Amino acid sequence: MNYKLSVNGTDHTVESTWEGESLLYVLRERLGLPGAKGACEQGECGSCSVLLDGDLVCSCLVLAAAAEGRDVRTVEAVAGPEGLSDVQQAFLDAGAVQCGFCTPGLIVAVHDLLERHPQPDDLTMREELAGNLCRCTGYGRIMEAVRMAADRRAASA
Ligand code: FES
Ligand code: FES
Repeated sequence: MNYKLSVNGTDHTVESTWEGESLLYVLRERLGLPGAKGACEQGECGSCSVLLDGDLVCSCLVLAAAAEGRDVRTVEAVAGPEGLSDVQQAFLDAGAVQCGFCTPGLIVAVHDLLERHPQPDDLTMREELAGNLCRCTGYGRIMEAVRMAADRRAASA
């Protein structure tokens, strides 16, 4: 089957595909966008997180063909022409990246979190990021990065 996908504001034609391919697979293997990572591929780890019409989803659980006509945003769209996003910079500054496998999904999730909760408390952070697993950091530095990004946004507002 053939269909069109809008990813990061660009229309892509996906041709000669099997209708059961996941959005994660199509992003990585057909569109050359490897930012979303595949780990569990069962909706458990959040490494494949993207925004679909503004909602945070696990792209491993979404059929790519079902995303036709919808707006897909991946971690590749987070950084701007001026460089890293504020959340990406905070992750670096807080030392929240170790192996980095969880990082792209977390970056997408934290941007989404801060859109809805500009100054999240610790409980909100834990609840909102519960779907993004990290096997390296113990989460302390990730939470520090979220606080740092939130505080910097508030200071520059
Ligand atoms: S790869 Fe999608 S949630 Fe783990
Ligand atoms: S930094 Fe390794 S899984 Fe999170």
